[in-house]
Amino acid sequence: MDIVIIGSGNVATVVGRKIRAAGHHIIQVFSRQKERASLLASLLEAEPINSFDEIKKTDLILLAVPDNAYGPLITKMPFTDAFLLHTAGSLPLDMLRSKSARYGVLYPLQTLRQELDTIPGFPLLIDANDEENLLELEKFAAGLSKTVIRAKDKTRLKYHLAAVIVSNFTNHLFALAEDYCRKEEISFSLLQPLIEETVHRLETNSAAGLQTGPAVRNDTNTMEKHRLLLKKYPELLPLYNQLSRSIRRRAM
Ligand SMILES: NC(=O)c1ccc[n+]([C@@H]2O[C@H](COP(=O)([O-])OP(=O)(O)OC[C@H]3O[C@@H](n4cnc5c(N)ncnc54)[C@H](OP(=O)(O)O)[C@@H]3O)[C@@H](O)[C@H]2O)c1
Repeated sequence: MDIVIIGSGNVATVVGRKIRAAGHHIIQVFSRQKERASLLASLLEAEPINSFDEIKKTDLILLAVPDNAYGPLITKMPFTDAFLLHTAGSLPLDMLRSKSARYGVLYPLQTLRQELDTIPGFPLLIDANDEENLLELEKFAAGLSKTVIRAKDKTRLKYHLAAVIVSNFTNHLFALAEDYCRKEEISFSLLQPLIEETVHRLETNSAAGLQTGPAVRNDTNTMEKHRLLLKKYPELLPLYNQLSRSIRRRAM
C-alpha cells in the first residue's frame, strides 16, 4: 500500500517504521517544519513535505499529531480519496467524516518514543466507518501487530485512561523517585530489580493481591518516619499521603 504520514513525532516515527517493515511504501511525510519532515522522511525513504497541496495520490493517510492539533489540522486538510486514519485513543472516529468517505482509527496501546532503537510490541485498537473499511483496516493492522482489537470511541477512551494510569502516572512516580534519590545521594538504579519484579508479577497475578508495603500493613510508625523525610519534598508528601490512604482503603 502507498501511505502518507502526517506528523513526524513519536507515533509517526514508530508506527512509520512498523508500516515500512510490513512491506508498505511510505511515499511522503508531512510536518509543518520541513526539517522535521526531512529527518523522518530520510529514515522511511519518503519525500518530505510541509504543505497539503503537495500530497500525492495515495491509498492511506495516517495522522499522528497532538490530540489538540487534530481539529485545526483537519479543517485545513483537503477532501481525499485515501483511507484516512487517526491514531488518538481519546478522539472520536467521526472527527474525520468531513474529509474522506473512508476513515478509521489505528490506536497503538503503548508508550512510544521516537528515539527507541527497538520497537516494543503493542496492541492496536481499531475502528472504521463501515464494515468493509473495518475489514480492510483489520488486515492492514494485522501486518503491524499480533494483537488487533475492534474498539468503539467509548471503549478506546476507557483504554486510554487506563493507559495513562498504568504508564504515565507510574512513570511520573519514577521521575519523582529519581529526583529524590539524586538529592539524597542514593542510587535510583539499585531499585531497578524491584521495579522489574513489580511489573513482572502482574503477568500472572492481580495487582490488588500483590500489594506490599507499610500502608497495606498499616505500619503507622514507619509511615511517620517517611513523612518526616518527605517534609523537604512538598511535591512528594501529598502524593505519599494520598496513595497511602488509597492503598489502605483498598485493603480494608
Ligand atoms: N506517544 C505515544 O505514546 C502515543 C501512543 C498512542 C497514541 N498516541 C497518539 O498519537 C498522536 C501523536 O502523538 P505523538 O506522541 O506522536 O506526538 P508528538 O511526538 O508530539 O508529535 C506530534 C507531531 O505533530 C506535529 N504537530 C505539532 N503540533 C501541530 C499542530 N498544531 N498542527 C499540525 N501538526 C502539529 C509535530 O511536528 P511539526 O511541529 O513539525 O508539525 C510532530 O511531528 C496523538 O494523538 C497521541 O494521543 C501517542
